[in-house]
Amino acid sequence: MSTPVDATTTGAWTALTAHRDALTPDLRAWFAADAERATRLTRQLGDLTVDLSKNLVTDETLALLVALAEQVDLKTRTAAMFAGEHINVTEDRAVLHTALRRPADAEPPLVVDGQDVDADVQEVLAKVAAFAEKVRSGEWTGVTGERVETVVNIGIGGSDLGPVMAYEALKPYVQDGLEVRFVSNIDPTDLAEKVKDLDPTTTLFIVASKTFGTLETLTNARLARDWLWQGLVVSRAIEDTDEARTAAVAKHFVAVSTALDKVAAFGIDPENAFGFWDWVGGRYSVDSAIGTSLAIAIGPDAFGEFLEGFHVVDEHVRTTPFEQNVPVLMGLLNVWYVNFLDAHTHAVLPYAQYLHRFPAYLQQLTMESNGKSVRWDGTPVTTQTGEVFWGEPGTNGQHAFYQLIHQGTRLIPADFIAVANPAHPLKDGGTDVHALFLANFFAQTKALAFGKTADEVRAEGTAEEIVPARVFSGNRPTTSILAPSLTPSVLGQLIALYEHITFVQGVVWGIDSFDQWGVELGKKLALEIAPAVEGDAAALAGQDPSTQALIAKYLELRTV
Ligand code: F6P
Repeated sequence: MSTPVDATTTGAWTALTAHRDALTPDLRAWFAADAERATRLTRQLGDLTVDLSKNLVTDETLALLVALAEQVDLKTRTAAMFAGEHINVTEDRAVLHTALRRPADAEPPLVVDGQDVDADVQEVLAKVAAFAEKVRSGEWTGVTGERVETVVNIGIGGSDLGPVMAYEALKPYVQDGLEVRFVSNIDPTDLAEKVKDLDPTTTLFIVASKTFGTLETLTNARLARDWLWQGLVVSRAIEDTDEARTAAVAKHFVAVSTALDKVAAFGIDPENAFGFWDWVGGRYSVDSAIGTSLAIAIGPDAFGEFLEGFHVVDEHVRTTPFEQNVPVLMGLLNVWYVNFLDAHTHAVLPYAQYLHRFPAYLQQLTMESNGKSVRWDGTPVTTQTGEVFWGEPGTNGQHAFYQLIHQGTRLIPADFIAVANPAHPLKDGGTDVHALFLANFFAQTKALAFGKTADEVRAEGTAEEIVPARVFSGNRPTTSILAPSLTPSVLGQLIALYEHITFVQGVVWGIDSFDQWGVELGKKLALEIAPAVEGDAAALAGQDPSTQALIAKYLELRTV
């Protein structure tokens, strides 16, 4: 196992610290003195125009950050990831989500651990595509011969957040007459609400679980199976026999997993299971067979375009010098804010309603990846790591939490994302509503960057005692990302952009961004506590006083 470079011991880190101490960010002055700043700090990444100029950086800051990337050997680590080295050291696994989107004819073929990864990926893709076509055309039917109208994806974490986010983002591409719903929470309300108006004869469940051992997913899958059987038997669509039930599962359940033996044990025909590999992390898996629900909804061609979008970014990351490399620069900017300017959080604010689940998706991607306190060799980290990612679509956020971003005491770097062409170019009288919407996108980053001085407030005739409350300090950093339209390819580009940003930050911090041991303890304890919650007195007695009292109160309150 290699020892990560301790970023804090590098010359670049020392220089960045001195640079930070000497720097007084002043975006007004910087823009006034430098007519080229916006042009010089805008980069192109595939279809994405990325304006970095409203960040609290000078050319020197960027040069030092690039030096930092070189000194922690980002280049070697990136090459190791693309080549399939086992950089997920605590699980001894390759990290190869980039292989999921390599073109079918990519040369030379990618062989990892003796396995032709390209061939494996293409085989599963073809299987998913064929299945998706059957569902879309109506060739695949339920047990009574009805075509599928609703697909219900049952999964959680990476087996849910990616597919639901992408499905919502690509709604205009969804085939008429098809709907996908997503069940994730073990709160039985989730499943109950999602299926309550569905007809079992036209419903197909996809049980999506990398491990096929996740409590929430398997519980929901069993509840769904019961719902299916009950509905089919009560409506006399099937006989109330074991054989009929087995046949119903075969037509109404498929699975996506790396554990095909467990899929079979659940009763799902392995023919109807789509595999993937342990080198795909859950939060990096939307472009694997985990995206089967999406492939059904938008079709294999659009799913292929989605993958092409990812690949555009992978190629950019692999081949572009750091100075021009957008994910590298954005990852380094995040390091700058977290480690040198004491930012604790990072907002992602899509000005595109279809991206409304994108911040939630990014929360798992970034925080499960980089929420770590030890480095990949097991030694403690030497600086702060993973910031909190959060956000909501604009303009809703403007009327909720932007106050704090504009005038609060904390520095909150924010990414603003917008598309030029709306899916719904509606007019309000003579007004183009999308233009009005994007006026907000442009206005917010302008206000955050340049603020409003006390003199400007006074000049509006504001009473002196109210002036301080109406001053905007400015110098609140943002990155603006503008795409032509929210196509499958653009969505793939956006996702890959953030995957690589996350990777870059992890490398600087020396952490394994691909394991997630931090979610294990709570899972284990929930299983241990479950008997107490069901009223087992001995199990209850074994709990700590706070947990005991809470469970006792719960048992007292529980009436149904
Ligand atoms: O508990 C966290 C986690 O392991 C995530 O990393 C993963 O995406 C999620 O659970 C679901 O896991 P699975 O796909 O194996 O059901």
